[in-house]
Amino acid sequence: MYDLLILGSGPAGYVAAIRASQLGLKVGCIEKGAPGGTCLNIGCIPSKTLLDSSQKYHELRTKYANLGIDSKDISLDLAKMMTNKQDTVLRLVDGVKSLLKSNKVEFIKGIGKVVAEGEVEVSSDNKPLSYRANNIIIATGSYPVELPNIKFSEDVVDSEGALSFQKVPNNLVIVGAGAIGLELGSVWSRLGSNVTILEAQKEFLPPLDRRVSRLIQREFKLQGLSIFLDCQVQALNESTKGIEINYKEKEQENSIEADKVILAVGRKANLNNLFSEELKPSIKNGLIEVNDFCQTDVKGIWAIGDVVRGPKLAHKASEEGIMVAERIAGLDAGLNYGNIPNVIYTHPEIAWVGMSEDELKKSEISYKAGSFPFSANGRALTAGETSGIVKMYADASTDKILGVQVFGPSASELVQQALIAMDNGITSKKLGETVFSHPTVSEALHEANLSINARAIHIQNKL
Ligand code: NAI
Repeated sequence: MYDLLILGSGPAGYVAAIRASQLGLKVGCIEKGAPGGTCLNIGCIPSKTLLDSSQKYHELRTKYANLGIDSKDISLDLAKMMTNKQDTVLRLVDGVKSLLKSNKVEFIKGIGKVVAEGEVEVSSDNKPLSYRANNIIIATGSYPVELPNIKFSEDVVDSEGALSFQKVPNNLVIVGAGAIGLELGSVWSRLGSNVTILEAQKEFLPPLDRRVSRLIQREFKLQGLSIFLDCQVQALNESTKGIEINYKEKEQENSIEADKVILAVGRKANLNNLFSEELKPSIKNGLIEVNDFCQTDVKGIWAIGDVVRGPKLAHKASEEGIMVAERIAGLDAGLNYGNIPNVIYTHPEIAWVGMSEDELKKSEISYKAGSFPFSANGRALTAGETSGIVKMYADASTDKILGVQVFGPSASELVQQALIAMDNGITSKKLGETVFSHPTVSEALHEANLSINARAIHIQNKL
C-alpha cells in the first residue's frame, strides 16, 4: 500500500514524487517511457540544447569576424550536434533516475489506469499488476495536436520530429508562431533553412505589449524569419519540391513550397484510457477540472501540469506537484497563479510575467509605466546585444510592481529578478534602492524600474 501513486514522471510527476518522499510518504511513480517526460526527453532540454548550439554556429559565422576573430571555414556537423543534444538529454534523464532512487521513490514501468477507488492497474509487457494508494496524482502531460486538414507524416512533423531532422531543410514552413514555432524556427534558420512561419492570429505574440511585439517582429525579420499573420492553412499537397502549402492570408489565396513542415499549433492533455467510467473526474474542454489546489471531484485523485487549466509550462507543473505533495502530507501549501513567468528562448530571449499594459488598461487599476532600451545598457553594448527593451508597470497608488516584459539578452533571468520582487510585494521605489552591479544587463531592469518614478539615469525620463 502506497501513500501516493503518481501517473507520469515529467516535471510535474517526478517533482511531486520527490517532495512527497521528502515529507515521509511512501511513493510510487508510474511511467510508460523514460523518466523526465516530454520536457527532458523531447521538449525543453533537447530544444534548448539545439537553440544554444545553433546560436553558437550562427554567431561564429556572422559575428566573430567583426570582433577580430578569424572565423573562416566554419562548417556544420549536424549529426554531431544531434549526438550532443541526445547526450545532454541522457545525462539529465540519468540525473532524474538517481534522484528518484536516492529519495526512495519506486519507479514503476508501465501504463497506469485508475480502475477503482485507490487502485491503479499497471500494464506493461508482463501481466497487468495492481497497486493501491491513499492518494493518486494524474500527471500524464500532453501531446501535440494536428489540424483537421493537416495530419502528421514523414515530412509534416511535430516538435519532436523537428528536433531530429537528419539534414537541414532548404525550405521550412512552420504553422503557428507560438513558443515552439519561434524557437524551432530560430534553430533551423540559424542552421541554414529558409524559414516561413504562418500564424492564424492577427496579432503577433498577443500577451505582449504592442511596442514590444513589434520590436520582436522587426528583429526576427532581420534574422531571416518570415512571419505572416492572419493566415489560415487550407491544404497540403505533394509537389516537385516536396510539399505545397495552400493558405489564405487576410482573405488572399496564397501558396508556398517546403521540404518540411512543422505543425506547432498547441498541445492537448493526455487523458486517454486513464480512468474507469465510474471513477472519472469531471473533464471540461479536454482538461481535468480541479480547484486551486489541484483536487479533482473524485476523493483522493489530484491532477497537475498539462492535464489541468493554466499554461502548459514545466515550471508551473513542478510547482503544482510540490503544492499537492505538501497538501497530501498535511501542510497548508498554495500557488500564486498570477505570477507564473513565461519565456521564449529565441535570441534575444522573450520573457514576461504579471499584467500587460492591455490588461491594465482594461482593469480598474491605475498604473505607472517605465521602460529602458538595451541600446543604452553598457554591458549589452560590450556584448553586441543591443536589441530589445525592458517594460515594467507598477500600481500608481501602492507602487507595487504589477508586470514586466523583457525582450533582450538574458530576458529569462531578468524577469526572474523582478518576479522575486513581485512575489514579495516589494515596491518599485524599494527595488530602485537596490544596488545592481555594473556593468550588467540587469541594470536595464533597474533603470526601467527607476523610470517608473522618473528616476532613470541613463535615458531621458518622461514626466
Ligand atoms: P502555442 O499555443 O504557444 O502556440 C500555437 C500558435 O499556433 C498560436 O499562436 C496559435 O494562434 C497558432 N495557431 C493555432 N492554430 C493555427 C492554425 N490553424 N494556423 C496557424 N496558426 C495556428 O503552442 P505551441 O507553440 O505549439 O506550444 C505548445 C505548448 O508548449 C504551449 O503551451 C507552450 O507554452 C509550451 N511550450 C513552452 C515553451 C517555453 O516555455 N519556452 C517552449 C515550447 C513549448
